Amino acid sequence: MKRNIVITGGAGFIGSHVVRLFVNKYPGYNIINLDKLTYAGNLANLKDVEDKPNYKFVKMDICDFDAFFKLMQDEKVDGIIHLAAESHVDRSIKDPFTFAKTNVMGTLALLQAAKLYWESLPEKYEGKRFYHISTDEVYGALSMNHPEGIEPPFKTVASSEGHKAYGDDFFYETTKYNPHSPYSASKASSDHFVRAYHDTYGMPTIVTNCSNNYGPYQFPEKLIPLFINNIRNRKPLPVYGKGENVRDWLYVEDHARAIDVIFHEGKVAETYNIGGFNEWKNIDLIKVMIKTVDKILGNPEDHSLDLITYVTDRLGHDARYAIDSTKLQKDLGWEPSLQFEEGIEKTVRWYLDNQEWMDSITSGEYEKYYADMYKER
Ligand code: NAD
Ligand code: TYD
Repeated sequence: MKRNIVITGGAGFIGSHVVRLFVNKYPGYNIINLDKLTYAGNLANLKDVEDKPNYKFVKMDICDFDAFFKLMQDEKVDGIIHLAAESHVDRSIKDPFTFAKTNVMGTLALLQAAKLYWESLPEKYEGKRFYHISTDEVYGALSMNHPEGIEPPFKTVASSEGHKAYGDDFFYETTKYNPHSPYSASKASSDHFVRAYHDTYGMPTIVTNCSNNYGPYQFPEKLIPLFINNIRNRKPLPVYGKGENVRDWLYVEDHARAIDVIFHEGKVAETYNIGGFNEWKNIDLIKVMIKTVDKILGNPEDHSLDLITYVTDRLGHDARYAIDSTKLQKDLGWEPSLQFEEGIEKTVRWYLDNQEWMDSITSGEYEKYYADMYKER
């Protein structure tokens, strides 16, 4: 079947993996990568697919309602996979307005343009889909009532060796929204608008909430690529607070596969949580990264431990995220494919092998931004 699909934010980290998957897997689809190319957008992420006949790049701001409405008409768009967003919590703390503008108003512009275009067609919403990609951070923070870790109730392929849970609660699809950071507040607001377009106008929408992603092409302001690069360059590793916060990590290609399954087979108006049951305290994860980088670079064991630098904690730093993705596994048969230690090694090797990609980003303004941001304790 021919489909005309817009993937917003396709030049970013997760979006580029989704674009690559769709372009390669569905030669009969027309895949339109719509991206404003902010600091986080990088077309070098998609060099391997840019010449494919079923791929097109359009530089556009999702807040530009008129331009997007015209694109819907010109391309006869029947599916939208919406990833474009401001995505970094630390930036949202410094500049919440940009987050509200892109994440809330931008999502609303896409919804309204899609509504007007699809409602103008004889078949209206039939065969259409608006799929909004969101985060588990909208649920707020879970308690750390088992700081030493307990046997978790669930496990997947992604769960690390000796996998532990650090609390006895998880984020479920039914968990009440309780966002804390400006980033998660803006994502929560956009999720509500997407659901409102289903409930009010009958638009066929889907929302998914995913845990922290890691893998190639992630902008090096986020923990994993930043730290891999700093270890390689013998630079300090700024650990916020005591490094006790817990995140639940999923390999980005597993997220992209989930998006593919849900886009095609997910039930309209449903929410699916995506995650691999793979909780890590930041400091433990950082030690795994140090071990892996040192091993690959041929350094003595724990050579880079001295780079760990405890810095002032992030404001409102959420203690623990841990997602229950049982519904997705049961209803649609999705499972993560990669074990965490394998995924981390693969990721470290990718960043070390693609130094040019990293250098093209880290030379310049970005470094200055970080110099201003962190003060050693
Ligand atoms: P990213 O910051 O790497 O990429 C975002 C992309 O959106 C960039 O290419 C950027 O140029 C584009 N963009 C930003 N503002 C835009 C605008 N106004 N118009 C058009 N394009 C714009 O983000 P990511 O980590 O790939 O996250 C993608 C999506 O997945 C986001 O919606 C994020 O909330 C969600 N998410 C991310 C994670 C994660 O761990 N990274 C986890 C769960 C959900
Ligand atoms: P990040 O990658 O920014 O993702 P998120 O805030 O969306 O979870 O951060 C992951 C964790 O690592 C989070 O608990 C904050 C912490 N962190 C640091 O300790 N130092 C850093 O330099 C960064 C970027 C993050």
